[in-house]
Amino acid sequence: MPCRTSEELNELVEEAKKYTAEGKVADYIPALGRANPDDLSIALHYPDGRCISAGDIDKKFTLQSISKVISLALVLIESGPEYVFERVGMEPTGDPFNSIVKLETMGIAKPLNPMINAGALVVTHMIKGCSAQDRFEKLIQFVRELTGDQDISYCKEVAQSEYDTADLNRALCYFLKQHLIIEEDVEGLISLYTKQCAIEMNCLDLARIGEVFAMDGVDPLTGKQIMPKDVARICKTFMVTCGMYNASGEFAIKIGIPAKSGVSGGIMGSVPGKFGIGIFGPALDEKGNSIAGIKLLEILSKNYNLSMF
Ligand code: DON
Repeated sequence: MPCRTSEELNELVEEAKKYTAEGKVADYIPALGRANPDDLSIALHYPDGRCISAGDIDKKFTLQSISKVISLALVLIESGPEYVFERVGMEPTGDPFNSIVKLETMGIAKPLNPMINAGALVVTHMIKGCSAQDRFEKLIQFVRELTGDQDISYCKEVAQSEYDTADLNRALCYFLKQHLIIEEDVEGLISLYTKQCAIEMNCLDLARIGEVFAMDGVDPLTGKQIMPKDVARICKTFMVTCGMYNASGEFAIKIGIPAKSGVSGGIMGSVPGKFGIGIFGPALDEKGNSIAGIKLLEILSKNYNLSMF
């Protein structure tokens, strides 16, 4: 079991923190540009309920692309893999997360996987409900169940800031609508998606979600099966193949832990059968992943032999 004490973890954070200076916070969503690039925090959540953490763990951040794993789990529970994978593929792209290029050049407009923006928009489109409000309520309730925290909410400022500037995502939606992959009003979908991305928590909550995926969908604290084992398996597989975007291959070789990043600087990790990881470090590398967060995972994986390969 890695890191028995928070002091031990703190030393690793200090080592990885040096790399924050080489990254930059995301500012294409203006509200994210206000993050402190020097921040770095981590929590490990173990099945026996123990949580070890280091850094300013009370700081909240928005999930951004990490929410794509959660919305995917929800639609897989609601509609099953056959329905979902008729509308979104299973293959990594090797392109940046917001790229439009493969939608046109692959011949079919179906997005290649649910972790790129085009695929995630299709997944959010699939959340069932009689209104956008109803669908968001369902998603946030699911997040509350995963974290065991009924107070989880979303950051209105970040959601609005992304909504005001999400023209590339609108372009993806209109392309998908033209090709009948999505059918709803684009503004309504963008509003729902930007709220989804703005769901807010700290790295302790994130580690607990990572642990549910690690433990095959069971919340070890309550013993409840929150999602079928197969759904947790599919999500972890996507985390390995596409979770770190076009850095997923290198990440699998160097670190070997199913993980999902977001442009806010969050990373959720799930060490299968063992524990969950939540990281927040808003300084990003050129591919949009937390630069010090990846370093920290690299050190952890090496020191404690965590690679699953
Ligand atoms: O749709 C977007 O561009 C953001 N809400 C999420 C992108 C993101 O987190 C990509 N992550 N690396």
